[in-house]
Amino acid sequence: MCGIVGYVGPRQAVDVLLPGLSRLEYRGYDSAGVALVRSDSMDVIKTVGRMADLTGLVGKESPAPAHAGVGHTRWATHGAPNTVNAHPHLDDNGDIVVVHNGIIENWRALKSELAAKGHRFVSDTDTEVIANLLGEMSDLPLVEAVRQVMLRAEGALALAVMRRGEPDVIVGARRGSPLVVGRGDGENFLASDIPAFLEHTREMIVVDDDRVVEVRPDSVRVFDLEGNEIEPEHRKVEWDLEAAEKGGFPTFMLKEINEQPHAIADTLLGRVTGSGRVVLHELEVDEDVLRSIDKVFVVACGTSYHAAMMAKYAIERWTRLPVEIDIASEFRYRDPVLDDRSLVIGISQSGETIDTLAAVRYAKAQGALVIGVTNVVDSALARESDAVLYTRAGPEIGVAATKTFTTQLVAMQLLGLYLAQVRGAMDPARVEMLVGEMMRLPEQVQTAIASGAEIERLARVWGDVRDFFFLGRSGDFPVAMEGALKLKEIAYVRAEGYAAGEMKHGPIALIEKGVVVVGVATDSHVRAKTLSNMEEMKARGATIVLVAEEGDDVGDVADHVIRVPPGPDLICTVTAVVPLQLLAYHVATAKELDVDKPRNLAKTVTVE
Ligand code: G6P
Repeated sequence: MCGIVGYVGPRQAVDVLLPGLSRLEYRGYDSAGVALVRSDSMDVIKTVGRMADLTGLVGKESPAPAHAGVGHTRWATHGAPNTVNAHPHLDDNGDIVVVHNGIIENWRALKSELAAKGHRFVSDTDTEVIANLLGEMSDLPLVEAVRQVMLRAEGALALAVMRRGEPDVIVGARRGSPLVVGRGDGENFLASDIPAFLEHTREMIVVDDDRVVEVRPDSVRVFDLEGNEIEPEHRKVEWDLEAAEKGGFPTFMLKEINEQPHAIADTLLGRVTGSGRVVLHELEVDEDVLRSIDKVFVVACGTSYHAAMMAKYAIERWTRLPVEIDIASEFRYRDPVLDDRSLVIGISQSGETIDTLAAVRYAKAQGALVIGVTNVVDSALARESDAVLYTRAGPEIGVAATKTFTTQLVAMQLLGLYLAQVRGAMDPARVEMLVGEMMRLPEQVQTAIASGAEIERLARVWGDVRDFFFLGRSGDFPVAMEGALKLKEIAYVRAEGYAAGEMKHGPIALIEKGVVVVGVATDSHVRAKTLSNMEEMKARGATIVLVAEEGDDVGDVADHVIRVPPGPDLICTVTAVVPLQLLAYHVATAKELDVDKPRNLAKTVTVE
């Protein structure tokens, strides 16, 4: 994530940049900064912390008037959230100023090349590489230099760039990450999202992928990567500010459900090769240490625990290592058997959940190797673990986890395949096949999201249903558990997640007419058994909903079938959970509940 803003025109640039950035804080808020560019000087003011901290700092430093500048609010993906890593970034001559959203996949190679030429770097960011590449091209017009950089940079990125002494031009570029231009009268705006300039103009241009845009007070010119000028499509924004902050969605939760294809693609970015291998250099754990592991534990709470459940199946199946999973608050009290050949994986989207932190601290004290999986760079979990694997979902505002969950599933699948690869536990051709299938997930999740209208229709009918069961086996079991938790959390409906085969040992006594049973049957090796369990529920009067793969013949057991794109066992958990997120969402909104802030819950729980 991250939010970027640029302004050129007659106003004081800070008066546009600071409020604009505040409106983009939903995209990231660990540090922020602005660069103010004049014909004879340039100021860069940045700080760790939120926009309120930056606004205070700008007030204190009281910079000279400037009518052009760029700004940034950060959600760290590269390097800790501190003032040095905050944007804007300069090249080592201090002539180029860059704000950037996204990930430069080939930054290591570019950085070594620049370092060999004598360039110095002060931050840990990939962005500084872009600034120095641009600094090498001072003889070219800025728009041309940015075009050349876009040809070299790999990955998803959006940029806004200015050059010392050129206060009348900002150059933007986009591939993957969003970028829009706001058209004013004698002034123009550049931003990651519309709310940044909506109070000034409703006229806009959406910058397409692989385009470079040159923004001056009186003109906006768009070029493709061959340098051809393109006629941009002008649009008018019809949303009000509140709707714009939610990207036109009625709630953050629905927006975040819709952001999942992008978040999953980001989480995969740079971690798999074209030849289907998993590369997790970022872990920086000696491969011999990973080969010496003889047992794995995964600890987490809430939704993250459901990612741990999937991880158990994946790691055991792919590496043949024994895996135990624990609700983090139970882990240390059961006196688990740990030593220096144990790997303990803590999963926490916030990285601050005290139960999970206490569990990994306990594991470290017993000599275990700890890997943290979190969405927040430099969170307590990241700092205290021996190694970290980040999900790259961007900030999640809705209290109920959605995009952080699906990216956790993807991160744990990557970790499972990586362990299998390092330990030689899996045929490389099978790893390659599964990696190939994972790369299809963003598109498949998009397809699953498209089933929303049908789910909304079903949810309206179920406004008065008091009891739901969510059932699945194997990889479908954690999906069912998560479906039930979502419904409890945001719709306040009693919902039980159960292993489908366990129902006959007790809970089946609760099944009667009026109960809705949601079965998840995507895991091929247990699918037939799940379907017979659903027959047992149907025979006792329950309404049956089935999540099944496209093209799969499920007979007539279900009253409603929700189709998801097919995928290999365990990988398809990512797609299968999406309809259940939407189901909970629509049941809750049909009851007019505040889905973004459900009662009694907190996004981050720092008490035991
Ligand atoms: C809270 C939230 C849950 C979340 C759990 C674990 O209870 O309400 O949605 O799953 O904490 O959070 P974590 O940040 O550790 O993933």
